[in-house]
Amino acid sequence: MSMTREDMLRELELLPVWKLRAEPMPAEKSEKTINLQTALVLAPRASIETMDWQALQACVKDCQACGLAKTRTQTVFGVGDENADWLIIGEAPGAEEDKRGEPFVGRAGKLLDNMLAAIELKRGENVYIANVLKCRPPENRDPHGEEVIQCDPYLKRQVELIKPKLIIALGKFAAQSLLNSDATVTSMRGKLHHYCGVPVIVTYHPAYLLRNLADKAKAWDDLCLAKSTMQSL
Ligand code: URA
Repeated sequence: MSMTREDMLRELELLPVWKLRAEPMPAEKSEKTINLQTALVLAPRASIETMDWQALQACVKDCQACGLAKTRTQTVFGVGDENADWLIIGEAPGAEEDKRGEPFVGRAGKLLDNMLAAIELKRGENVYIANVLKCRPPENRDPHGEEVIQCDPYLKRQVELIKPKLIIALGKFAAQSLLNSDATVTSMRGKLHHYCGVPVIVTYHPAYLLRNLADKAKAWDDLCLAKSTMQSL
């Protein structure tokens, strides 16, 4: 029985995410060569959607899918209770997180811990904290679209494995990436959104709140909404 190219890619678990990255290879290169090369480059990424925690962590640790691999000190996978009801999602590691390998450990992280405490939550206890990007963008620049595209399968798999009841998206970047929107935080606050079937509440990023103290009251409203939403789930 002869296998079609599609059959082969499916066998290699390269579908449905397989995409040609470059111009088609010249005709003289055999189909076998192309598939082998594709498998070597993409096999680890193609199977992300079936990975367990250990495999996913190892895959993120060695990820070379975008240019941030060259500038990071280490990847920042996420931290907390792997069966948490609450999933907190930020933007990307900063300098301190890149050094320590844990999300939200700088000044913004302290404020995040206080925000969690305000609704009787504690880092690591029924809470998991992750970022949209697992690597630090150099000079704290905004993440690029291509970086988000490459990193998104990791976050999706984390969500599938954790099965949180509720996600809190911290700040414009996390909210826009998760919700595939270019709306402002102001317009996204106060409503229930969804990411991969999980309810999402949007609030301000703690780093923003450190610079805009007046908006802390609004963040408090968002946390109250999150808490009452969780109670109703
Ligand atoms: N800001 C983020 O969005 N994530 C971190 O981990 C730290 C700061």
